[in-house]
Amino acid sequence: MGKVGHTFIDLEEVDSTNLYAERMLQKGSVAEGTVILAKFQTAGMGQDDHQWESASGQNLTFSIVLHPRFLSPGRQFLLNKVISLGVLDFLADYVEGATIKWPNDILIGSKKIGGILIRINVEGESLETAIVGIGLNVNQTKFDPSLTQAASLVQVLHQELKLKEALILLCNAIDMRYSQLKNNNNEQLKSDFHQKLLGYKLERKFVVDGQQIIGIIEGVDEFGRLLVIHPGEPVKAYAHKEIEYLLK
Ligand code: BTN
Repeated sequence: MGKVGHTFIDLEEVDSTNLYAERMLQKGSVAEGTVILAKFQTAGMGQDDHQWESASGQNLTFSIVLHPRFLSPGRQFLLNKVISLGVLDFLADYVEGATIKWPNDILIGSKKIGGILIRINVEGESLETAIVGIGLNVNQTKFDPSLTQAASLVQVLHQELKLKEALILLCNAIDMRYSQLKNNNNEQLKSDFHQKLLGYKLERKFVVDGQQIIGIIEGVDEFGRLLVIHPGEPVKAYAHKEIEYLLK
């Protein structure tokens, strides 16, 4: 199995690196660890059918092809952990206090600097392919005013990063975390993920069914559901979109 980033496919412009990876996989086999990056995406995809906006040549927008055949579909959230922890390990060399806003937004303070979009393909009882799309805002300084939460690394560091160098370091960090997963080091991944989880073990405000409600995040279960204790209630497990974390 190849290291993440053993091969880079470097594109000037593409609709979406995730879609490009999907087309490659439809045509034939793609080695694990292949990375497809683009200077500009004309139809970058975000979570929940949102678009992912990224100024040309200023940020990292790329997809990694993995073949996590050792994972059953029910355990796919382990991949989210691996990737978000890899991104945070990379960031730790530059900034303090980056966090993961469940399920996998990358935040510095209350600003989102990165997002992850994983598409899996199941064959039988295992994950045949995962296309891991990562968008990390690095050198962009101006964002569409509608994107009130968006920020980039340069706005925190006040120094631009060389994108290709950053990408290689980021791939190495992800590769390390992926090796932990392959070596079944799931307890380590779990506790590291919890340590980096925004609001972990803290009393915070959430919205559930349109109602604002206090809760304490107890962690994330093996299916990737957010575990929250509301005052006087037993722990509840929420799937994506069932609960909203209020940043303020
Ligand atoms: C999110 O909404 O938080 C997820 C954003 C994921 C964006 C990346 S950019 C590279 C890859 N290609 C895409 O079309 N989307 C992902």
